[in-house]
Amino acid sequence: MRADPRLIVPLDVPTADEARALVARLDDTVSFYKVGLELFATDGMALACELKAEGKQVFLDWKLHDIGATVERAAAALAGAGCDLLTVHAEPQVMAAAARGCAGSGLKILGVTVLTSLTDADLTEIGYAETARALVERRIRQALAAGIHGVVASPLEAELARSIGGPDFLVVTPGVRPDWSAKNDQARAATPAEALKAGASHIVCGRPITAAQDPQAAALKVVAEMAGS
Ligand code: C5P
Repeated sequence: MRADPRLIVPLDVPTADEARALVARLDDTVSFYKVGLELFATDGMALACELKAEGKQVFLDWKLHDIGATVERAAAALAGAGCDLLTVHAEPQVMAAAARGCAGSGLKILGVTVLTSLTDADLTEIGYAETARALVERRIRQALAAGIHGVVASPLEAELARSIGGPDFLVVTPGVRPDWSAKNDQARAATPAEALKAGASHIVCGRPITAAQDPQAAALKVVAEMAGS
């Protein structure tokens, strides 16, 4: 079976060598990888370029948050490296700067609306007057206005993001767990089919695949479920 480009596997391992070993085990079953902050701290960018050279798609989950000029230059540099997806915090200035930085390139920008670790009480403590869901909705609309390509959303918010964003908006959902896998720390998980049905354009599915005894077989099962959704 060929890879489903809607499946993104996060390389949540401490070293680039471990990431390379995982990619080798997944062989041609997975074509899209997420490189997060853990690898960013070591040689994540070199790994990202290697994956691109091998024909993979690369999602840089670096959640940029800085003044506009800095975000714009960072997005332009990452677009030059040929990466495919980049996350930024979903504040209007940050998103608009990232959109300028990647203009004319293949890099697409995703806004991280509200971190799913934040509760309504946490938002009050930070100083926001809105609930998490209201803030998510506000930021989806601001992402559209800023001209970025989509958002990262939990499966519970995927429908909202799809309905506001329209058919071409990217809705990337982590928190995906097939029925046969452990939930780990994903409390409000959805299956791959449920996430796609709710409006996800891509799903991020990590430990059910990466922690499996046979990661390739697990990835094939997820891809089969996606095809049947
Ligand atoms: O192993 P698992 O499928 O839980 O991995 C999910 C990935 O998505 C991890 O890299 C995690 O950091 C990321 N993520 C998440 N929930 C969010 C945002 C990102 O699980 N709200």
